[in-house]
Amino acid sequence: MKTNRLYIIVLIMFVSIIGCGDGGDSKSVPTKPTFAEHIAPILSKNCLPCHRENGAAPFSLEKFESVQKRAKTIAKVTLNRYMPPWPADPNYTHFVGEKVLTEVEIATIQRWVEQGAIEGSGPYVYQAPNTHRSNIRKPDFVVPFDSVSLREGDLDRFFISKAMVRLDRKRYISALELVPSRAGLIHHANGHLLLYADGSKLEPSRAVGKIETSNSTDLNLIEQLRLLPKDGPLPSRIHSAFNYLPGVEGIEYPAGIGVYEVPRNFAAVMNDVHYGPSDTNITDKPVLNVFFTDVAPKRATGELMLGTNGVSKIVPPLVVPANKVTKHVTRYTIDADISVLTINPHLHQLGKSFWAFAIKPNGDTIPLIRIPRWNFNWQYFYTFKQMVKIPAGAEIVAIAEFDNTANNPYNPNHPPKLVSERWDYGGASMRASDEMFQFILTYTVYQKGDEHISLERKK
Ligand code: HEC
Repeated sequence: MKTNRLYIIVLIMFVSIIGCGDGGDSKSVPTKPTFAEHIAPILSKNCLPCHRENGAAPFSLEKFESVQKRAKTIAKVTLNRYMPPWPADPNYTHFVGEKVLTEVEIATIQRWVEQGAIEGSGPYVYQAPNTHRSNIRKPDFVVPFDSVSLREGDLDRFFISKAMVRLDRKRYISALELVPSRAGLIHHANGHLLLYADGSKLEPSRAVGKIETSNSTDLNLIEQLRLLPKDGPLPSRIHSAFNYLPGVEGIEYPAGIGVYEVPRNFAAVMNDVHYGPSDTNITDKPVLNVFFTDVAPKRATGELMLGTNGVSKIVPPLVVPANKVTKHVTRYTIDADISVLTINPHLHQLGKSFWAFAIKPNGDTIPLIRIPRWNFNWQYFYTFKQMVKIPAGAEIVAIAEFDNTANNPYNPNHPPKLVSERWDYGGASMRASDEMFQFILTYTVYQKGDEHISLERKK
């Protein structure tokens, strides 16, 4: 795709189509809610995916007693919508795995707590939808990466890391999911696969599992991590095969979309594992969950990145003076029909809001995402419930606001000081204290009927 370098200032009057708010089944609040009947179903769907043993949250809510003990806090954090964390505006667009409580659910929790948080009688089911350190299902294969020990007081730390995999035969992979020991440790990681031709001679797999680097760069990844075969052709590479940001959940696309064929020998490689500043001594042991399918690859996915390091300029350039709130736009015109599967808005700690949409050649707008209050801790990859078609000639627009005042609780500088995109080693700095403005779209080439293909997880 190439850029249409026409920078036209357009004032966009935006009309959002407000969906049916609370979801169709808005029942009324029960007069005497019990955990067994009313609360367990709400929490198992919306809280247990993270609040479980080895989940993303720091404590488990899998036992009734642990819920009861925290009943008052649960009432508070659900009422102010701090939990479950879901920064995207559900009145703008909807996504797979959306975690948003309805007004009725929130009121039910409030009443239940006011009335003493009782368990109620009768048998009931209360369990996390998935308990395999996965949001997809039980992985077919789990690949361990080298562990990383973080010390209290550590600032940003960067690694390149690899794990060698040997399978019994060539396989099709339908999903890859990186799972750190705890959410919030890894700020981001980009993973690739290196595929070795059958018969290549590989070095012993344990030689060099990871290397600490001074910033996130590719360096000479293949050589440094000793990924070159001793004998045989250079491995081929599947770029960006898996990515991680806090809160990200694995996704498996249907119908042979985004499926990879891998040979018996391959390596999972991360060229920039970024650990944020640490406030404890902790060892992270990330694993890569691998999911196989019998469905052969049918449609490849591509990645389009706007903004920092991407295909489109940020206007005005991303410089945020101290004590200022600034607004920046990046826009890109596509030249082929695409079906968007997943989107990922990415800003750092000064982020204030994010908004993205596409303008069709006929002037209609396609809403993509609106995040009224940016939250650095929750940067999901948002997968649409159905693929979203963006036609050739449409312009994708992303708008971000940054707050570099003392009012921003995430501001890394006290007092605030000028923050910008910083360029080191030939790429943008990924340090959390420097800024970024990126909008990444995962897409496949449009085919008729895509709008009707559901991307919801299979039950
Ligand atoms: C996507 C993961 C995720 C989901 C879903 C989630 N939580 Fe959390 N929760 C966290 C994390 C991480 C923390 C700790 C960091 C923080 O407080 O932001 C947390 C903290 C909390 C706290 C402590 C807040 C405090 O101020 O001490 C409570 C209570 C809580 N969650 C309740 C819930 C409830 C109730 C739900 C469902 C309605 C829920 N959470 C859903 C990840 C999640």
